[in-house]
Amino acid sequence: MKAAHFYLLLHVFSTASVLVNAFDPITTTVVVSVGAALGRTIYDYFHERCDPKWISFNVTGLEVDLENKLFGQHIASRIILKAVNGFMSNVNPKKPLVLSLHGWTGTGKNFVSQLIAENIYKEGMDSSFVHVFTSELHFPHPSQLDTYKSQLQQWIKGNVSNCERSMFIFDEMDKMHPGLIDSIKPYLDYYDKLDGVSYRKAIFIFLSNAGGESIIQTALDFWKAGREREEIELRDLETLLSLSVFNNKKSGLWHTSLIDKNLVDFFVPFLPLEYRHVVQCALAEMEARGLRPDQSVADQVARDCVYFPKSERVFSVKGCKTIESKLDYYT
Ligand SMILES: *[C@@H]1O[C@H](CO)[C@@H](O)[C@H](O)[C@H]1NC(C)=O
Ligand SMILES: *[C@@H]1O[C@H](CO)[C@@H](O)[C@H](O)[C@H]1NC(C)=O
Repeated sequence: MKAAHFYLLLHVFSTASVLVNAFDPITTTVVVSVGAALGRTIYDYFHERCDPKWISFNVTGLEVDLENKLFGQHIASRIILKAVNGFMSNVNPKKPLVLSLHGWTGTGKNFVSQLIAENIYKEGMDSSFVHVFTSELHFPHPSQLDTYKSQLQQWIKGNVSNCERSMFIFDEMDKMHPGLIDSIKPYLDYYDKLDGVSYRKAIFIFLSNAGGESIIQTALDFWKAGREREEIELRDLETLLSLSVFNNKKSGLWHTSLIDKNLVDFFVPFLPLEYRHVVQCALAEMEARGLRPDQSVADQVARDCVYFPKSERVFSVKGCKTIESKLDYYT
């Protein structure tokens, strides 16, 4: 849409120039150069740059979004807001912000990354300073590990050189080759500069299911004991999280080395979602589509989801993940 505006304006202007062309050459020269300057200004106006006009953190925005759009994640909300706000208000951070988001599918890990991006970059996830890597998409062939390693390092270096406030999101971190993770470790560390580039204002977000099982177990224990979900505290999950990730052969490697070196600043657990959260997701989605939120449709959508464990049926197997397509069906 922005590019379209730009071209429209340019078109209006070139039409104007053609009209003026009928006059003397001096006027034409003046008009053409004013036109070039104007074109440049218009271009600058719409073209994303690495400056505060395009990148500035809105703490109220993030707080409101976490409160109104993320459901059932009281711990994650709190940590994210504190972590991002602390980091973004620090004019001289000692290292980049590294967040590791853990939890079952559909619990909001990707969504939270999106909310963070939207409240830092004017262009949100479409910003040219936000980069998402998915192991299956970007690094599918283990045999090409060495190529991937140097490619990834170059990307990170190139992008941070371009803009120190760059954000890198690694989806499905547990499927990423440990060697690949090793190759990015230097960028996460407390270095003033590496090869003349400072990474200390960058943000790295790792998403994984690692530890998801033990988070579920804790949530289930609370549920069985008749305790409020909101009573679950970070310390109920923190050691569990690092231990289970630690012991998990598949995802253990990357984690072990990141934990050992304290490169991850915050481990953020995402709890499995219950029926009432799925209802909330459905209502929010209707609102986002400009529909009138309809409780009975939301209930129908939520009833249609599969819940586990088999006997208790407390948590939604897919969280809020399939709500969008289900809504298409019911509305
Ligand atoms: C920050 O977010 C709040 C809440 O969404 C919004 O009202 C406000 O306009 C935003 N501020 C800026 C500078 O974008
Ligand atoms: C920035 O990262 C993207 C991948 O997200 C890559 O395609 C691009 O080449 C990188 N830019 C630089 C300057 O390295």
